[in-house]
Amino acid sequence: MTNSIQWWKEAVVYQIYPRSFADANGDGIGDINGMRKHVPYLAKLGVDALWLSPHYVSPMLDAGYDVADYRDVDPIFGTLADFEALIEETHAAGMRIMCDIVPNHTSWAHPWFVEALAHTVANDPTVPAKARYAEGPWARYHLLRGQADGTLPPNNWISIFGGPAWDEIKDADGKGTGWWYLHIFDNSQPDLDWDNEEVQAEFRGHLRFWFDRGVDGLRIDVAHGLAKADGYPDCPELKDGDPSHKNPYWDQDGVHAIWRQWREVADEYDPARIFVGEIWVGPAARSARYLREDELHTGFNFGYMTAPWDAAEIRKNIDDCLRENAVMDAPATWVLENHDCWRTVTRFAPIIGEDTKKKAGSGELDLAKTVDWKSPRDLEVGRERARAAMLTMLALPGSSYIYNGQELGLEEVFDIPGEMRQDPAFHNTNGESLGRDGCRVPLPWGTSSDSFDFNDNDKLWLPQPAGWKNLAANVQDADSESMLNMTRAALKLRREQAALGGVTDEATALEWNRSSKTVLDFVRPARDGGRAIRCVMNLGDKSVAIGQHNGVILESAVGVSLGDELAPNASVWVWA
Ligand code: NOJ
Repeated sequence: MTNSIQWWKEAVVYQIYPRSFADANGDGIGDINGMRKHVPYLAKLGVDALWLSPHYVSPMLDAGYDVADYRDVDPIFGTLADFEALIEETHAAGMRIMCDIVPNHTSWAHPWFVEALAHTVANDPTVPAKARYAEGPWARYHLLRGQADGTLPPNNWISIFGGPAWDEIKDADGKGTGWWYLHIFDNSQPDLDWDNEEVQAEFRGHLRFWFDRGVDGLRIDVAHGLAKADGYPDCPELKDGDPSHKNPYWDQDGVHAIWRQWREVADEYDPARIFVGEIWVGPAARSARYLREDELHTGFNFGYMTAPWDAAEIRKNIDDCLRENAVMDAPATWVLENHDCWRTVTRFAPIIGEDTKKKAGSGELDLAKTVDWKSPRDLEVGRERARAAMLTMLALPGSSYIYNGQELGLEEVFDIPGEMRQDPAFHNTNGESLGRDGCRVPLPWGTSSDSFDFNDNDKLWLPQPAGWKNLAANVQDADSESMLNMTRAALKLRREQAALGGVTDEATALEWNRSSKTVLDFVRPARDGGRAIRCVMNLGDKSVAIGQHNGVILESAVGVSLGDELAPNASVWVWA
């Protein structure tokens, strides 16, 4: 970019899901040396930064979001030396690198939780029960006496992955003790008590450990969690994943003091390190509170990721986000895919034979048990829409996230045998929720090996669809009209054209050109001597006139002669 805005206000960040990206040692699971091999691919793609989902030591009961050691690399991914080499090579290639941090909970294999359990089984009758359970090592977690003489959970909270959010501690003989620990996610992920100063200090140390090694920023897992309502009141609404602050374990005011502490640590560094929060909180005014100047730098706009194929809903999300973030002088952060939700190709694909007025994509998220994954979908249309959505996202003011494989137009995979599925959400609900494995299938890189060059053999932790042979990165590299090459072209233009840079001022970020039920049409005004750029997206089922413009720059549709018309399910960038 020609202007000197802070990098994170306009960065395009590429999310690497370590198990799924690339496997150098051939064991069927992605690893750090696999990432190192593809640093040139990422640099050529044109992203500004990488974010890695957790690489820490873990029993992998939630794919690494259950951390047993926050200061080392899990052997399935490699070594700390491999990770340090990745940092160096990423920087040398001109990109920044961020990793994930998981502060809401540890793994049950974390030494703190192991110590707490041992404290319980000591079971010395001369020590009062309270001291045995609610104090000492247990003070780092949430441990409560159960109701009905300890036989029932302390309250009605439910786990995001199914079942109650509390598990009873057993004594050495396997008998219930009447004391229950909290786990908002899997029971292998006990929640930490963030009122505890030792917990706070330990995590400040974790931040410094990675920042000292050159990590440029951190993505904070469940950044709207951590603080729990005083007295652990019953949950008024029992909707899984409800982000409302009325829910006593989400978006509690106490969480902001933690982010202020973390911001101080990030600001100790030169250049300052940055945070992006996973903030499942609505409405936009509420999630923007995390972006106050002494808290987090950015937070994912999940309203954008969950908006259906509907111009009015997408526009409302864009307007709300730009308006509320501008109040905090914070950039918007656009995201269409990640490791927790359906791939866009499938999410936006209409169900074949269904009324086209039904908005594809609404509510079709991973953990909902009601989504229709059985009816066949028109993936060809889904792929056109995913391309259009990518182009529109990359024209918006702020920072954007691309999830690995999104640039290849991969679809959600449903055809995975139950015994290969790993997501606790699948197992804890007896398969009622399919879980999130379908967006975590290993990436296709080429056509030389049976794993489409994910590694050099046929070992894969999840099976790939045969059709991915045609979507492999090498195949798309050779096709000038592929989604990969369209994405590269868009990212190159983002770097070259000042109009597409980051802006946190709502007034100059973007101007709407027309308002329609089926069309999004906005201009990024000229800046720094450059030209204005307009993006038009057609979400309807008929072609629309593009209207007055000064030349096409880039379009998402393939094989359609553009003229002055924009095909359905397509986006275009034109000189305004
Ligand atoms: C959010 C992460 O994105 C998800 O993958 C994980 O299962 C939960 N947090 C628990 O850590």
